[in-house]
Amino acid sequence: MKKSLEKLLTKPLPVNPFKPEKALITDVEDLAPDHKKFSFVFLDEKVNEEWNHIPGQFVMLTVPKGGEIPISICSSPTRRGTVELTVRKVGRKTEVLHKMQPGDLVAIRGPYGNGFPVEIMEGHNVLIIAGGLGIAPLRSLIWYILDKRHLYKDVYILYGTRNYESVLYKDELRRLKERKDIKCLYILDKFENEEDRKWADREGLLTALIPEVSLDPKETYVAVCGPPVAYKFIGKELIKNGYPESQVFVSLERKMECGIGKCGHCQIGYKFACVDGPIFPLWDTKNLPEMI
Ligand SMILES: Cc1cc2nc3c(=O)[nH]c(=O)nc-3n(C[C@H](O)[C@H](O)[C@H](O)COP(=O)(O)OP(=O)(O)OC[C@H]3O[C@@H](n4cnc5c(N)ncnc54)[C@H](O)[C@@H]3O)c2cc1C
Ligand code: FES
Repeated sequence: MKKSLEKLLTKPLPVNPFKPEKALITDVEDLAPDHKKFSFVFLDEKVNEEWNHIPGQFVMLTVPKGGEIPISICSSPTRRGTVELTVRKVGRKTEVLHKMQPGDLVAIRGPYGNGFPVEIMEGHNVLIIAGGLGIAPLRSLIWYILDKRHLYKDVYILYGTRNYESVLYKDELRRLKERKDIKCLYILDKFENEEDRKWADREGLLTALIPEVSLDPKETYVAVCGPPVAYKFIGKELIKNGYPESQVFVSLERKMECGIGKCGHCQIGYKFACVDGPIFPLWDTKNLPEMI
């Protein structure tokens, strides 16, 4: 246990956690309506080389003439040289970002937050449960685990979203399904056309896939990210199926300003989502007031 804790505490240190670093947009990919994936490289070569993060961590992204927003890193630290962020257009700042093109400049500070306990998960099965945009931080975890496949036992990915049109990383997820070293199950809320039917294994809610997972729950770590409203139901279904709540980790979003535990905007009870999270054990979500 002591060794595991030591491992958890050996987080990569950001180059300078307080300094926004200029970064160039190198690629913009339309993933789904109102969802784009942006790729960035830092102008400072040293920052580019030293940048490291843990899957599940986030950055504070400065959108010129917009402001700062917290965004999860969707690329894996095992694939260095580029930082990728997937952003849904929901308001003023994300609208400005969605108009930006390759060659435009932004600023990024971080990485912040705790991330998933990837080292503690080593030697165990991993069950990844993603709902909607929740696949973004989990994409970082998926590629991290696949690039270090020998360190983990069986891996399952469950992904649920509204319809085929709203599926993010379509090609990647299709290719993941063809791999023999992981098992992927995809579900859509409701089949409305042939494309939906072709894409998904099932119709319904993510919780319906949990009993189909054939893993020994006691030997499994679970990573969940999706709409907070789903956490209660996913949590209940996981517990019903024997997964220990100490081995289930969920990613939570709160409004953030500083990202470094100073402003109090993200406070939940005695915890700050930006430094104690955004990844929390399921136990916290059940026992801290207003967690979900
Ligand atoms: C740790 C963390 C990671 C995130 N990762 C991503 C990501 O990978 N991709 C992505 O698209 N978005 C992510 N978000 C949310 C993103 O930060 C907000 O959507 C963004 O700040 C909205 O800015 P805006 O000016 O466009 O919209 P605003 O005008 O600020 O907000 C538009 C609407 O969204 C709501 N909102 C804004 N921020 C949040 C929040 N944090 N939680 C709940 N509701 C909110 C507002 O109340 C409002 O109704 C993340 C947030 C956090 C805290
Ligand atoms: S965002 Fe300021 S304390 Fe968390």
